Amino acid sequence: MTERLTIPRPDDLHLHLRDGAMLASVLPESARHFGRALVMPNLVPPVVTGADAVAYRERILAALPAGADFRPLMTLYLTEATEAEDVVAAHAAGIVQAVKLYPAGATTNSASGVRDLARVEAVLARMTEAGVPLCIHGEVTDPEVDIFDREAVFIERVLEPLRRRLPGLRVVLEHVTTAEGVAYVQGGGAGIAGTITAHHLVLNRNHLLAGGIRPHYYCLPVAKREVHRRALVAAATSGAACFFLGTDSAPHLDAAKLAPCGCAGCFTAPVAMALLAHVFEAEGALGRLEAFACRNGAAFYGLPVNAGRITLVRGAQHGAQHGAQRGPGTIATPDGPLTVFDPGFAPLWHVEETDA
Ligand code: NCD
Ligand code: ZN
Repeated sequence: MTERLTIPRPDDLHLHLRDGAMLASVLPESARHFGRALVMPNLVPPVVTGADAVAYRERILAALPAGADFRPLMTLYLTEATEAEDVVAAHAAGIVQAVKLYPAGATTNSASGVRDLARVEAVLARMTEAGVPLCIHGEVTDPEVDIFDREAVFIERVLEPLRRRLPGLRVVLEHVTTAEGVAYVQGGGAGIAGTITAHHLVLNRNHLLAGGIRPHYYCLPVAKREVHRRALVAAATSGAACFFLGTDSAPHLDAAKLAPCGCAGCFTAPVAMALLAHVFEAEGALGRLEAFACRNGAAFYGLPVNAGRITLVRGAQHGAQHGAQRGPGTIATPDGPLTVFDPGFAPLWHVEETDA
């Protein structure tokens, strides 16, 4: 049996790093294992212009631990006031990798998102010409639509019509959670890819709701039935180029999670690679972890595979000193504790600690 697996430093192509004290608390957890991350722009206020992205990237770089081998890739938050030329210039200058579409009200800090897609159509057309990828939070916000159906309905009502109007637009359907999403990405040709999180590979909606509500398993899109989780596992472990890792690690303080109206988001960065190795091994697909976590996303975004490497080790972790990797627990932040995602089982793998 394989006991050690060395792969290129992976890419997390959907990550929430937040800002200020929270940024400083969570960034080392991603920088420890990942070579790059596509950083989501849903700050308050959001990262909407190329200048905002430059400033945010500077704050991230300033918060990086010394010697970290980690590069933040920036995104812009699409609003109905976004100027196409600013987007295209920021992309051409290498400042931003992609633009993020949040339907207004779909998730955390999405109030400035898009209410009427017609109002951003000209920007999307310009992005299509310039080859700027659009990352999409694919859920409708129509209150009539059941929350468990919002992804499938989005594909039918919004995504497919959009891609018919702009067939050349490069699209990432973010955090796919349904069999419908998997099938749509698989059948969608070279212009579309899908990210899959680590937590959606191990959670179904029973984990969230049966035998007591688990606020730390609440995220958006919400975990679905087991049949959907199985479809996600099959997609991720297939090695297919159209699927890659985006953890959607989304830290919120415990005080915000454990509230009568708790925030959506799972803080998975410290354990994401261990969870993936566990899931891939169970499928007999450890050899395809590298495609999913290190190669497919880089290829989609036209980036070289990271030069650095990490080693995953099978077995319990010995001698872990610093708080989080390493298993569930909490990280202390200046504003209070932050709980690390606990899958409810001990992952059979961990990332070997290095001194770097
Ligand atoms: C994310 C967050 O907290 O910013 N929450 C989540 O549940 N995934 C937003 C998002 O990506 O939907
Ligand atoms: Zn997200």
